[in-house]
Amino acid sequence: MKDSSIYIENAKVLNHQHMEGGQHIIRLESEKCSQYAKPGMFIHLKCDENTLMRRPFSVMRASKEEKWIEILYKTFGHGTNSLKLVEVGDTLNYMGPIGNGFSLSKKKTIPLLIGGGVGIPPLIFLASEIKEFCNFKPIIFFGSEVTFPFKYFPSKYMIKDFLPEVTASPDFIEAMGFVSRLASQQDYPGCYKGFIHELAEHWIKTLNTDQLDKVCIYSCGPTPMLEAVSLVARKYKIDCQICIEEHMACAVGGCAGCIVKIKDNNKIVSKRVCVDGPVFKSSTIYYE
Ligand SMILES: Cc1cc2nc3c(=O)[nH]c(=O)nc-3n(C[C@H](O)[C@H](O)[C@H](O)COP(=O)(O)OP(=O)(O)OC[C@H]3O[C@@H](n4cnc5c(N)ncnc54)[C@H](O)[C@@H]3O)c2cc1C
Ligand code: FES
Repeated sequence: MKDSSIYIENAKVLNHQHMEGGQHIIRLESEKCSQYAKPGMFIHLKCDENTLMRRPFSVMRASKEEKWIEILYKTFGHGTNSLKLVEVGDTLNYMGPIGNGFSLSKKKTIPLLIGGGVGIPPLIFLASEIKEFCNFKPIIFFGSEVTFPFKYFPSKYMIKDFLPEVTASPDFIEAMGFVSRLASQQDYPGCYKGFIHELAEHWIKTLNTDQLDKVCIYSCGPTPMLEAVSLVARKYKIDCQICIEEHMACAVGGCAGCIVKIKDNNKIVSKRVCVDGPVFKSSTIYYE
């Protein structure tokens, strides 16, 4: 089912979970968005009646059958601090799904998912889609500087020639049968102590040429992280799609408030993250 429409929904809050590190998961009723959302797409949400501007959040999960979507958000400023006060049964208004989303390449049978901080949610969605629709064997790296918003424990999956002390893996990814590891600058047990792109590079170095040829990177996170991931992709000649979480205003292409610079035939052109993205090939992004 293909539909590029953006719907406006008045949705009841079905669940609202509050976790350490100012992280929250909210489940919203969704007649339409749940049917058409793809990993990397986002919703534009009115956090409360008194906050005029909507705020963008990636869809983390969507149930077509039960007609709901979930987002994971971190409290940051006025909008998200109002949102955390919303209760189950309240109604919220949002537009969605917006944007292009990741596109899984059929030839690249080893998806490498790299998510940092609030860039983790779209990759959780991507992992679920891979589980449901492909025979691919992804490898998944998540990084966070606050307590991870899920349980993790030593993985039952070994990775050949990889850092033996790095064992931590999220419970729900393990349940999908996928290999995963975690990174943080904090001293979290079993996690790689350092940056997530370094962890990913350690893994890339374990691959032979045939395997490397099958890898495609899908990544989302803060700009410095995406820049570092893009450099790793370039170094190893790996295709790479990045989901950019740029500041936004209208989210429908009308205000040019979300411009990113793109390389196009030796020229630098401006693209709008909301309607031309938020997912772009990393090789096209112009980092100053
Ligand atoms: C496509 C996309 C997907 C996103 N997905 C998530 C997600 O899944 N979970 C999550 O926690 N956050 C996500 N963000 C970031 C989230 O939108 C901001 O944290 C949020 O807008 C902050 O609002 P605030 O009112 O609390 O902060 P304020 O600082 O009060 O917001 C002021 C303005 O700045 C904008 N702004 C501030 N920080 C950001 C930022 N990092 N990115 C974009 N706009 C920002 C806001 O939209 C608002 O217009 C996403 C952003 C984009 C663009
Ligand atoms: S936010 Fe207005 S054009 Fe993208």
